[in-house]
Amino acid sequence: MLLILGLFTCFLSVFYVTAPSIRKYFAGGVCRTNVQLPGKVVVITGANTGIGKETARELARRGARVYIACRDVLKGESAASEIRADTKNSQVLVRKLDLSDTKSIRAFAEGFLAGVMLCPYSKTADGFETHIGVNHLGHFLLTYLLLERLKESAPARVVNLSSVVHHAGKIRFHDLQGEKYYCSGFAYCHSKLANLLFTRELAKRLQGTGVTTYAVHPGIVRSELIRHSFLLCLLWRFFSLFVKSTWQGAQTTLHCALAEGLEPLSGKYFSDCKRTWVSPRARNKKTAERLWNVSCELLGIQWE
Ligand SMILES: *[C@@H]1O[C@H](CO)[C@@H](O)[C@H](O)[C@H]1NC(C)=O
Ligand SMILES: *[C@@H]1O[C@H](CO)[C@@H](O)[C@H](O)[C@H]1NC(C)=O
Repeated sequence: MLLILGLFTCFLSVFYVTAPSIRKYFAGGVCRTNVQLPGKVVVITGANTGIGKETARELARRGARVYIACRDVLKGESAASEIRADTKNSQVLVRKLDLSDTKSIRAFAEGFLAGVMLCPYSKTADGFETHIGVNHLGHFLLTYLLLERLKESAPARVVNLSSVVHHAGKIRFHDLQGEKYYCSGFAYCHSKLANLLFTRELAKRLQGTGVTTYAVHPGIVRSELIRHSFLLCLLWRFFSLFVKSTWQGAQTTLHCALAEGLEPLSGKYFSDCKRTWVSPRARNKKTAERLWNVSCELLGIQWE
């Protein structure tokens, strides 16, 4: 009994002594460029909370005009006023955008970019499964609608939040909406793989336009995305040690938005502010092209 207690105490002490370095290891890279953004316009989806908000804060600090695009305008406003006070940049604005509704995306785009994770099976206003609908199709349409403006503003960049979990993803063309088989965890992985494929294909199609695009794994970040899963919330307490803060989670996105000379790496995937390898499925040109075609069909758009 004493031995067990002794071992346990020993383990605990080792754990507490090593915890800071564990944290540091998982904290990852830091965006160190000091590029300033006067006159630049930034649109960030879901920027009312988490990594999005941190990213918005940093870009506002650098002088950009920042549009916080989110479903809940009130929450957006409270984030915006916090950021305005914090950065002394009055050009932090809120626009309503519900990425699960193509009408809202079109309305948003006319006047002038969120994620969902592990939600129970549901469909978007347009009848798309929620993960693929919001994480992929919603952003796909938004990019499409903003494309001309992006080209006019070149050099411009599109940064997509993918995730390391794309390794478990697969594009199930025969059941894209998860009607035959649905598991929220896998649906999330599939949508993150879709983000990577989209980024590659988009980079290919944008060659020579001055618009470049990057996909990012922000790291395991303390954010509200896990709000849909109770079990994950419990596990969270323990794993918090290995987890990045939202500020750390925003670093790779900022790196891809700001770092100079990144253009030759358009279409590539980044983690900890460095280029990183993607799964073989994410490198499949045929899948990327087919997903592109299917997405256009689902959204009823012509995007050559
Ligand atoms: C990637 O994200 C950007 C902004 O976050 C968005 O403009 C783009 O459409 C996204 N693309 C996809 C479908 O992943
Ligand atoms: C995608 O659509 C284009 C043009 O419609 C077609 O040429 C191409 O073969 C399609 N690709 C795939 C993999 O379906």
